[in-house]
Amino acid sequence: MNILHATDYTHASRLAANLIAAQITLKPDSVLGLATGSSPLGTYRQLIQYFQKGDLDFKHVTSINLDEYVGLSPENDQSYRYFMNHNLFQHINIKEEHTFLPDGLELNEKKACLDYDQIISTHGPMDLQLLGLGLNGHIGFNEPNDSFQTGTNCIPLTESTIDANARFFEHIEMVPKKAYTMGIKTIMQAKKIILLVSGEQKANIVKQALYGPVTPLVPASILQFHNDVTVIGDLAALSRL
Ligand code: F6R
Repeated sequence: MNILHATDYTHASRLAANLIAAQITLKPDSVLGLATGSSPLGTYRQLIQYFQKGDLDFKHVTSINLDEYVGLSPENDQSYRYFMNHNLFQHINIKEEHTFLPDGLELNEKKACLDYDQIISTHGPMDLQLLGLGLNGHIGFNEPNDSFQTGTNCIPLTESTIDANARFFEHIEMVPKKAYTMGIKTIMQAKKIILLVSGEQKANIVKQALYGPVTPLVPASILQFHNDVTVIGDLAALSRL
């Protein structure tokens, strides 16, 4: 496991963007596993700048996102499809038909998960998977559990995740209670993984995930078994290592 110590969020974002840019430069038809949330926003801004300068071409790239809230449409500004469109896809030349997220409007949970697994098996595995880290150790929306989930699954979100995500909604009641998420096995099949963390509030869980026992109670701890993980963190997030 490589651990890259960044001075701050901006530096961490630039390091992550540089690794993604290198991936696309070396393999223009890369399949990227992408994340939403606060952690990757700076990375996406940096990638957009590289594209605008003419240094990066997304024409042949495919993206497969980790997760989507159940019940939210792509037009809903809290949906992850909306997030990706507005924070990355609309600003680069990736083809819309090459961008995938679970279908939040498919309320038949079994079908939604099978459909997404089909997309992943058609286009995957991911050449590079970008991950954030939940305060409870979740990756994607794979919450602490008795066992590691394998394929795409529908997850009831824990109170801690709902609380953490409430900052994006007008009212906590509006935070969806379930999400579709790529499974842990799919994440582990990615050829390379970048785990991006920042902020003091992540310091404890980063330590547990990277150096604690490997357990589904800390889903990110499984990354200890992956052979190509790069952790990129600012000083605060890595302060307990
Ligand atoms: C988002 C996702 C989540 C987030 C995690 C951290 O697609 O899958 O696992 O990466 O909740 O969120 P932030 O980056 O907002 O701290």
